Amino acid sequence: MTEIEQPAGGSESPPSLRVAVVGLGYWGPNLVRAFHEQAGVEVVAVCDTQPWSRAAIARRYPAIPSTDSYPELLADSSVDAVAIATPVSTHFDLARAALEAGKHVFVEKPLAPSVREAEYLIEQARASQLLIMPGHTFLYSPPVMKIKQLIDSGELGEIYFISMSRVNLGLHQPDASVVWDLGPHDFSILSYWLEQLPTQVCAMSRACILPQTPDVAFINATFPSGTIVHVQLSWLAPSKLRRTAIVGSEKMVVYDDMSTEPVRIFDSGASVPDPENFGEYQLTYRTGDIVSPKIDPAEPLALEIQDFCASVRSGVAPRSSMTLGLDVVRVLEAVDRSLDSDGVPVAVTANAATLADELAGEVKNRAGGRLAVEGIALETSSDGES
Ligand SMILES: NC(=O)c1ccc[n+]([C@@H]2O[C@H](COP(=O)([O-])OP(=O)(O)OC[C@H]3O[C@@H](n4cnc5c(N)ncnc54)[C@H](O)[C@@H]3O)[C@@H](O)[C@H]2O)c1
Repeated sequence: MTEIEQPAGGSESPPSLRVAVVGLGYWGPNLVRAFHEQAGVEVVAVCDTQPWSRAAIARRYPAIPSTDSYPELLADSSVDAVAIATPVSTHFDLARAALEAGKHVFVEKPLAPSVREAEYLIEQARASQLLIMPGHTFLYSPPVMKIKQLIDSGELGEIYFISMSRVNLGLHQPDASVVWDLGPHDFSILSYWLEQLPTQVCAMSRACILPQTPDVAFINATFPSGTIVHVQLSWLAPSKLRRTAIVGSEKMVVYDDMSTEPVRIFDSGASVPDPENFGEYQLTYRTGDIVSPKIDPAEPLALEIQDFCASVRSGVAPRSSMTLGLDVVRVLEAVDRSLDSDGVPVAVTANAATLADELAGEVKNRAGGRLAVEGIALETSSDGES
């Protein structure tokens, strides 16, 4: 089947944003629902190469046309934006084709399977004055947003270290390691909280079940501020853990996404009252109140899709911006380099050559400045978005 199947039914008033969703496996149906529920948005088509995935969506949304042909979907000039929820190894090709077809793109995390490909997509989006947004859903998680407020307000003081555990049993991905599957969540959260790239990472991993596919990884990262971070990722664990501890000079926070009290703030710490008298110093430990702030019950995915739609309309970069997505890919690639070198520390740096130079050669918009066309205005600069 290659033609878009048009269901019977009357037409409605034209929506302000017409979106197609590609990839209807585990995560894609959530995107279909979130776009479907978004005001001013119409899901005009869904696409998957597997008939059973299309059939499952057709049962839930009989009015949405479906196709197995991505090129045909892109050829439909009435589609404004494409949301991609396919395996990581396909993100670059599908996102690139969508941008070439003049569509705004929402692509699930990670933005692309390599820095060079992520950079190429960003260059292409800027040159075409289109939005490409990586799906870093946790940036819209109310507990994560609450902790961002706590860090920015200075309430936690200097952030000494952060320890993150994201482990559970499954799901092994056929085309990505646990670093590229679960790692984007933690590294996007860190990028949002700390507003910095790590200077270096070092990592160890093991492929316990599938050869060549690491399913457990322990990653250490150092940030320019001095904050040190440990990230533990695994698809092999006896129970699901989503726990982060943030230790600051003033207060400490435990963020447990599995808990009914996801954020707990500990007024705890240690200090040396008379640091001058170092030979006889006595540490003072403080264990004060534990506060569990009220957390907005909003659904992160709904907020994320809302931000994407608002960004398409306004031209203002979304929180999960393409440059944040690129930074995440930079970290993941550095982790892989460390793993390939038996865990030696690896600097997290920008690549010198871009894939754009190799693949295209056409003029790319590298200049800073404000682009505006047909109601879309994108703030651009050579090193990030405003
Ligand atoms: N934001 C989140 O919290 C979150 C959670 C889970 C997964 N994800 C991301 O979603 C993406 C998909 O993950 P998943 O677990 O749903 O994978 P999946 O394997 O369950 O589903 C992928 C689907 O894409 C389809 N597909 C593959 N290539 C295609 C093509 N060229 N054209 C049309 N359809 C194609 C497959 O048939 C399959 O149905 C990944 O990037 C993953 O990282 C994000």
